[in-house]
Amino acid sequence: MNYRSNIHSSANSKGHLTIGGCDAVALAKRFGTPLYVIDEDAVRRACRAYVEEFGARYPNVRVIYASKALMVKAIALLVMEEGLFLDVCSGGELYTAISAGCPADQIYFHGNSKSAAEIAFALSVGVFRFVVDSLDELYVIDRLARSKGLVANVMLRLTPGIEAHTHEYIKTGQIDSKFGIVIPNGDALRAVGIAKRLANVRLTGLHCHIGSQVFEMEPFVDAIDVMMNFAKQAHEATGFIMEELDIGGGLGIRYNSKDDPITARDLAEAVAPALIDAASRHGLPLPSLLLEPGRSIVGEAGTTLYTVNAVKRIEGVRTYVSVDGGMADNPRIALYQAEYEAALANRMAVPGPSSPGSSESWETVSVAGNCCESGDMLVWDVSMPRPEIGDTLAVFCTGAYNYSMASNYNRYPRPAVVLVRDGRADVIVERETYADLTARDSVPVRLRPAATRPAAAELAHRDSAGAQSR
Ligand code: LLP
Repeated sequence: MNYRSNIHSSANSKGHLTIGGCDAVALAKRFGTPLYVIDEDAVRRACRAYVEEFGARYPNVRVIYASKALMVKAIALLVMEEGLFLDVCSGGELYTAISAGCPADQIYFHGNSKSAAEIAFALSVGVFRFVVDSLDELYVIDRLARSKGLVANVMLRLTPGIEAHTHEYIKTGQIDSKFGIVIPNGDALRAVGIAKRLANVRLTGLHCHIGSQVFEMEPFVDAIDVMMNFAKQAHEATGFIMEELDIGGGLGIRYNSKDDPITARDLAEAVAPALIDAASRHGLPLPSLLLEPGRSIVGEAGTTLYTVNAVKRIEGVRTYVSVDGGMADNPRIALYQAEYEAALANRMAVPGPSSPGSSESWETVSVAGNCCESGDMLVWDVSMPRPEIGDTLAVFCTGAYNYSMASNYNRYPRPAVVLVRDGRADVIVERETYADLTARDSVPVRLRPAATRPAAAELAHRDSAGAQSR
């Protein structure tokens, strides 16, 4: 794979990669590495593509950003500025949105295992919709809403039984899934009946999500068919009118040159007429159409910059280029065998391996992470000018499910996130420090090193005081 073909990259006169008008090498120097760089215009373009393409083809569309892809305050505000609503799937994502100042009445609350505390929190801030995943959850929402004198607006998440061709761990629409209420065995119909009877919930619509990194239109169209058939059945059985139909997220993106994703326009062209047609066939009013893209909003906008720490050439076997990040900042390779493209950000102008003026030799290398696991690899077999220690290495397409899935494995501090636009870079998440890593550690007195251990008498006094207060 030759990074020259990468659709995400451009270079300046120094031969340095540029992102959002910023020199990537300068960004690495200024903010340190690893560094997540998010191109603001790319995020905005992706939001607009959904709003415009669907808006042009369907009368009432709501695009909801699935914030699990990248949930930090600045991004939540940015996508809302573009007219998107927000999907949160945990108390923490909800808290992030609310503390950023995102209006609660534009927030959908998802999740297959919401705790009573999370539900109470969502009720207290007044989320727009609960997307309910089970009957148990429905009853808890009703009970807690009653105790607060509220009526909660809910949608039911159903499993349409559609198999999207994606990685086993990220497909969700099939019947054997932890997500959603099953249609064929009658559970979904029962849930509609119960939701209609409960006094403190109002059922506004239905939801499904078939999977993630999906490259075909058919599963979305099939899901609409299944959901509209069910809406008709539920209408006949209970009088339920589906005001809104949420077809979830899942549109794939181009991680490498082998990927050929469909666009928001392709999806709109397939989905909008299918829904209009199904509604008229079933004699049902046209529901609002809701979509929940995550990856396709932020994925291609992100690049991670690393510094090369070591190059190990095993003659006739492989060249390992070890960088200062890895599975702690991008676990997707280890988890899903995800494939990325990489390039040397400081040597973008080096003539390609086959070009006549090529002075530098090129090499096929594999980029290794810094965690203590053989499986911690970032990219296998990528062609680049012979890498050296100190080079700045860029991995493309890391905007989605990288920062949001990052961990402190091996006690690596999480990288900073910067938002770039028109040559300007703003830190939107500060780099963690070593002190952050230990800030929540607590050492029982008996384990403290002698020098810092209080005198025995003082200890005894503390223990008895503790016992009294218990
Ligand atoms: N709506 C629901 C209910 C979802 O569960 C998801 C993703 C989305 C929307 C957004 O899907 P997207 O447009 O981003 O594909 N960590 C995995 C992806 C897990 C996706 C989970 N749900 C990865 O790194 O590939």
